[in-house]
Amino acid sequence: MKNSSEIISHESAFNHVSGRSVYIDDMQNVGNLLYGRIVFSPHAHASIVSVDTSKAKKLKGVKAVLTYKDIPGSNNFGPVVHDEVCLAIDKVEFIGQAVCIIAAESEEICRAAEKLIAVEYDVLEPILDLETAIKKNNLLAPQRKIEIGDIKSAFKKAENIIEGTLQIGGQEHWYLETHSCLCIPDEGHYKVFSSTQNPSETQLLVAEVLGLQSHNVEVEVKRMGGGFGGKETQGNHYACWAALLSNKTQQPVKIVLSRDDDQKTTGKRHPFLAHYKAAYDKIGILKAVDVELNCNAGSSTDLSMAILERAMLHAENAYFVPNMRIIGRAYKTNLPSNTAYRGFGGPQGMAVIETIIDRIARKLGKDATEIRFRNFYGEKDRNITPYGQLIERNRLKAVYEKIIRSSNYYNRRIEVDRFNTENKYLKRGLALTPVKFGISFTTSFLNQAGALVHIYKDGSVMVNHGGTEMGQGLHTKISQISAAELGVSLDKIIVSPTNTSKVPNTSPTAASSGTDINGMAVKNAIEKLKNRLSQVAAEKLNSENTDKKTKTEDVIFENNMVFDKKNPQKKLSFDALISLAYIKQTSLSATGYYKTPDVNFNRETGTGKPFHYFSYAMSVSEVEVDMLTGSHKILRSDIVFDIGDSLNKLIDLGQIEGGFIQGVGWCTTEEMKYDKKGNLLNHSPDTYKIPLASDIPNDFRVTIMDGIPNPNTIRKSKAIGEPPFMLCFSVWLAIKDAISAFANHTKDPDFRIPATNEHILLAVEKMK
Ligand code: MTE
Ligand code: HPA
Ligand code: MOS
Repeated sequence: MKNSSEIISHESAFNHVSGRSVYIDDMQNVGNLLYGRIVFSPHAHASIVSVDTSKAKKLKGVKAVLTYKDIPGSNNFGPVVHDEVCLAIDKVEFIGQAVCIIAAESEEICRAAEKLIAVEYDVLEPILDLETAIKKNNLLAPQRKIEIGDIKSAFKKAENIIEGTLQIGGQEHWYLETHSCLCIPDEGHYKVFSSTQNPSETQLLVAEVLGLQSHNVEVEVKRMGGGFGGKETQGNHYACWAALLSNKTQQPVKIVLSRDDDQKTTGKRHPFLAHYKAAYDKIGILKAVDVELNCNAGSSTDLSMAILERAMLHAENAYFVPNMRIIGRAYKTNLPSNTAYRGFGGPQGMAVIETIIDRIARKLGKDATEIRFRNFYGEKDRNITPYGQLIERNRLKAVYEKIIRSSNYYNRRIEVDRFNTENKYLKRGLALTPVKFGISFTTSFLNQAGALVHIYKDGSVMVNHGGTEMGQGLHTKISQISAAELGVSLDKIIVSPTNTSKVPNTSPTAASSGTDINGMAVKNAIEKLKNRLSQVAAEKLNSENTDKKTKTEDVIFENNMVFDKKNPQKKLSFDALISLAYIKQTSLSATGYYKTPDVNFNRETGTGKPFHYFSYAMSVSEVEVDMLTGSHKILRSDIVFDIGDSLNKLIDLGQIEGGFIQGVGWCTTEEMKYDKKGNLLNHSPDTYKIPLASDIPNDFRVTIMDGIPNPNTIRKSKAIGEPPFMLCFSVWLAIKDAISAFANHTKDPDFRIPATNEHILLAVEKMK
């Protein structure tokens, strides 16, 4: 059996690099397939005066043109709150809202038909940015609050206070596979192949718009070409539209968005506008923090309240704040509804406290790393979060000590200072930032998962579970877990595509918990199978050797063999046991289930234990910034990660490197620009700058800490999907450090997310 120290690559690695991996756009391009197209609203806010589809319907090759009037089931829809419509009725609230849908024999005919559809609008004033939404008090829902201690009296007694505002931009997901869906009708049953992180929710919503029950709809996901949160809810729309067209025509219908349409019409990371006030003592220890987090939710609720909640739950990041108040407000605007994106509000929440600490250090003339260290969560009296969860198994000190040493931090600080005195227009900056990320859905009931494991007569195993594969390596890890739990080699295991008819009522693959919860559910199913198989094995071993009785609880599964722990010479092969079990009429199929124990969060009081545990990491980055152009280069980044016992170091390394760089894109080059009418101006890679291979640090050193198993999780591992994203603050604040060096660290640079070349130049200008 392979163990975790061996290198096991992603199960689809070969197919991905050789182009053999199948995505929805590659499927069913034959026979009577129809193509679907959405007629999007060109206005951010308008009343619909009239819709005339008659000419389009007459075009040869057009099979259906549908408006809201043609929906057999419910037009009201949305993942948490049903405050969206599947097809617009009498108004549109964002550019990209669906007004009608077309099915035709080719994409060309779809496009021609679209031109024949006449929609008359009465254009209204849109609200696009947070400042306007706040001024108009356009709240999506009542504000939320988390509070600990007594900020009022803490501020009254404060030695020093800083205040400020931080602008935080959104981010386009830029998954390589755009939103897509293929729906195949079959005698009243609809099989939906969807690029979704949430097949069960897609199933339910498709059933609702068709006026059917969930058992009439089957959703299957083989893989996504990336999701990053963008497909946690927003894949549902394409599935519903494809299903409506398929229901009308009784032919298979496929919808695949173009890159530009995807980028223009889908939700993104939430932009935030934060106000903060912090009290600290003369050595920089935080006494009180008051934060107001305002987020731009876009046109509907989607996941905004949960995202805002996670931002609030990460507003103190890795720091103990005895008196803290966190206010959260989500505002409705006329943008496509913003949605989940790696970190799920965590990055926006953490950016504020990281700014506060950085500014305190500059006021005190200290290295920010020192101030960070002083404020880390510690032992008793310094281990309670603002929401009342105690910090157990705190790894901050261990990670910090390791990275300070391995990055050679203090010598490099001297080097950076020397470089800066010797160079006028090139400046270097250095920063260390920590991540403490809470693992579990904060919507506590979502922390459940199911599995279905079959063993076939030849000893091969088919594992089904509720999680979806989006490139993160979930299926690879589940295969490894299955092999290890069953004591067989990896080649005996296959993980099937995710399918709602195999494992029902699943949670989205999100919150980094895919392996944690589905891995446990698979383990539970395998335990049931092993219990049955152990009885068959004991019986068999006892029939051959009567003087040493094998007890069922002593039967061990290992290396494709089954043996008696106390008498290892009493053994048989796994395959032989399986064929025997079949003949002895034993069920070789079992379901599994898991729910995360003991997590809860009360939204009314803002208290509870929302997280099963925390993942910890730190990064040190050094950058060089050109003060004349605002361009920068990451010279070196060091990362130290605590992920318990890694299930697969190669995959975890990929998640760390990829997540970090995705975060660097968010806080440096990725900026969304809109015109006054709400049109996104940069909707392709020529103008929207995601990081390139050339943007990764010149010297990139990632260390996964060994020997710190995480109790009460699957094979003592820790989640890895989202936490690395937030290590990007080391680059962001290293850039700020370099700008500050331009004025000899006498002024605090103006700073925001993203720090694009343009914003860097503006900040440098103010240093003069
Ligand atoms: N990695 C790849 N390659 N592609 C993705 O879409 N999504 C991220 C992260 N890593 C993503 C990824 C996000 S937002 C989450 S929540 C987790 O993977 C989800 O998977 P997991 O729970 O199995 O870690
Ligand atoms: N993370 C990701 N997705 C979610 C969460 C969360 O905490 N809660 C609800 N959906
Ligand atoms: Mo990830 S943002 O929880 O899909």
